[in-house]
Formats: sequence, C-alpha cells, structure tokens
Amino acid sequence: MRNAAITGWGMAVPERVLTNADLERMVETSDEWITSRTGIKERRIVGPEDSTTSLSVTAARQALDTAGLSADDIDLIVVATCTPDQFLVSQACLVQAELGGTAGAFDLGAACSGFVYALAVGSQFVQTGLHDRVMVIGVDTLTRFVDYTDRSTCILFGDGAGAVVLEATDEPRGLLSTVLGADGAGYKHLYIPGWGAFVPESAELFPEYRPYLHMNGQEVFRFAVRVMGDAAVEAVEKANLTFDDVDMMIPHQANMRIIDAAARRLTLPREKVWVNLDRYGNTSAASIPIALFEAAEAGKLEEGDNVVLVAFGGGLSWAAGMVRWGTAGVCRDAECRTSASGVAQPERLATGHTSDSESRATKTLAGG
Ligand code: ACO
Repeated sequence: MRNAAITGWGMAVPERVLTNADLERMVETSDEWITSRTGIKERRIVGPEDSTTSLSVTAARQALDTAGLSADDIDLIVVATCTPDQFLVSQACLVQAELGGTAGAFDLGAACSGFVYALAVGSQFVQTGLHDRVMVIGVDTLTRFVDYTDRSTCILFGDGAGAVVLEATDEPRGLLSTVLGADGAGYKHLYIPGWGAFVPESAELFPEYRPYLHMNGQEVFRFAVRVMGDAAVEAVEKANLTFDDVDMMIPHQANMRIIDAAARRLTLPREKVWVNLDRYGNTSAASIPIALFEAAEAGKLEEGDNVVLVAFGGGLSWAAGMVRWGTAGVCRDAECRTSASGVAQPERLATGHTSDSESRATKTLAGG
C-alpha cells in the first residue's frame, strides 16, 4: 500500500518573548497561578516584522532542507490556520509566493486541530497516488486576536509555525490511522466574534464587533479532557496497535492538566509525552508540528517508532492520528526524485492517470 512518510520538518517562532512576569504587570495574575493552572511559563509573540506568512515560510524552508527538496519538487501545499494574513488570497498562496514553485495551494480551517486535519488531507493525496510530495503547515498568530486585558485568555496563547514534507513510500510509514471529529453546536465556547462576514469590521455600525478571542475556559477544558483521551485511544486502536506499542505522544500544547489526562488514558509515562508549552504556550495549529520538530531534532524519534498525535480546538473540533516515524521506502536518489516517483501507484490510478510529478517530468524530458 502507498503511504505518506514524513521526510522533512521545520519550525519557526517569533523572537519576542512574553513571560509570566510580563503578564503580572499587565493583568491581575501571578506566575504561580498560570504555572499551576496551565504549565505555561512564557510564549513567543509576533512583532511588527512577523506575520503568519513569515513564520510559515521559515518553517517550510527548513522542512524542505531536511527533506533535501526544493519548492519545485512539491506538488501541493496545505496550510492549517485560523489566523491567515488575508482572507483573499489563501495563506497557502502567500506562502507559495515566497517559496516559489507551482504547487497547488489551499488553506484548511480547524483551529488548534488544524495540523492533524491537514496531515490527514495531505496524506490522502499521496496515498491515492494523485501527488508524490506534499507540504503541510500548521501556523497561527492568535496573539493578534487576544485581548490583553482579559486574564482568562491572554495567559494562554503564543505564535508559531511548524511544517512537514510528506513523500510517497510503499512501507508502512506516516499516518497509519486518522480520527477526525467536531461538535459544531459548541462553537461559541471558543471563537472570535466580529471577525468575518457575520459581523463585518465596524465598531460603529456593529456594536457587537469584537475582534478578540472569546472562550468559555471551563467548558473547553471539560471538552478537551474528554476528547483528547477518547481520540488518542481510538487512533491507537484503529492502527491495530496497543498502548504498549506507543513510543511517543505529541499532544496539542494547551494545558498541562489536559495533556496529563490524555497521557493517563494511554497509561503513558511522562518521558513518552512531548511537552513544550512551558516555552511556547498554546500556538494553536502550530503546536503539534513544533513539538514534532523538537522531538525529531532531539533524536527522540527513531525509524519505525509509533507516535500518537492528538489535538482539540475551536469548532469545537478534535483530531488524532498514529504516525509511524521514518523514511523507509522513500525514493532518495536524485534521478528518481526529478522523474516519476519510484513508488507504485495504487491500482485504481495506475492507468489513465498521471501524477503531477510525472507530468512535470514528462514536460522536462521533452524540453517543455
Ligand atoms: N490569573 C489569576 N486568576 C485567574 C486568571 C488568571 N490569569 N484567570 C482566571 N482567574 C480566576 C477566575 O476569575 C476564577 O476566580 P473566582 O474563583 O474568584 O471566580 C478562578 O481563577 C478560577 O477560574 P477558572 O476559569 O475556574 O480556572 P480554571 O482552573 O478552569 O483555569 C483555564 C482556567 C486555564 C483557562 C482552563 O479553564 C483551561 O485551560 N481551559 C481550556 C482552554 C484552552 O485550552 N483553550 C484553547 C483551545 S485551542 C484553540 O482552538 C484556540
């Protein structure tokens, strides 16, 4: 079976650091309260020189470097974000404009669950044989929509981007199982009223215009504890594995108490759970790919390791997946990469369909 291995990874966070001590000077809070209730010590905040685009591009270039590819090799760019720099055009097109190439490009919105959703979508394009190499980016700059007089939300969020490159392989690598879910009826527990077409941007005409994130913390907390555990368990079972087979869990970094609850459901010891929310806070769609990047760079992920990704977020939404780490079976030699993929097409696509990279190779070989 054709799979989508993760062959490249990258991340980016802004330079500017906002510590709990800084927040103590802005709202009535304390380092002790924030640390004990969330686990967060500091976060990175975009400055005037940063944007969703700039963070995405830095992470994407690093992911291409790790994979040993250039932007021209990529067939598709999927960007998961709820904080694009513009509504029109897509964030993915803004990223592609900087990276170069002619890859298809579109955005996907599932808030903090966005990266796992996008990984599922990107993997499908590779698994079906439609594409050979896909870039998946999770990025958010939610601090641009945080009210820094609201102590219940301003302590939580940070900004960042993470990117991965997916490539075709015949080995069982990449996403082995996928769990996607949503409870749209609960959307008002976590949303930004007054940013979009419901209430256009005009405080004068629309008194309800309020471009800040609104959250019912306790409701979201209860929801998160329930779905994170359930989704993680389902991802393991759907991959026909047991909890003992799990080498690492990479959870959405929202709150240490939520992460601990999910880890308990899988009976995982702390050393098998990647945690970085103390340094970055909740970076929304970026949190899982940033954690994945850190775990990989720290040498904690080995060929064949089973890694559970699990997230929840606005929507309300949730997503989980079992990833088999490593690049076994991915075509590595230059010739194979510049011509048709060495990995077999699924039977139903083998005739009558040509993958993008095949058509590109044909054009190149023909001098087109
Ligand atoms: N500092 C000090 N006190 C505070 C602060 C603060 N920053 N914030 C709230 N409090 C106070 C409250 O006013 C309340 O005081 P009261 O008892 O006098 O009324 C008290 O602390 C307890 O408030 P709770 O809301 O019950 O605190 P809780 O333990 O639930 O923690 C928190 C709040 C951290 C927000 C928690 O509910 C949480 O993490 N929820 C999940 C939120 C989340 O993960 N959101 C991101 C979703 S991902 C996405 O898609 C963007």
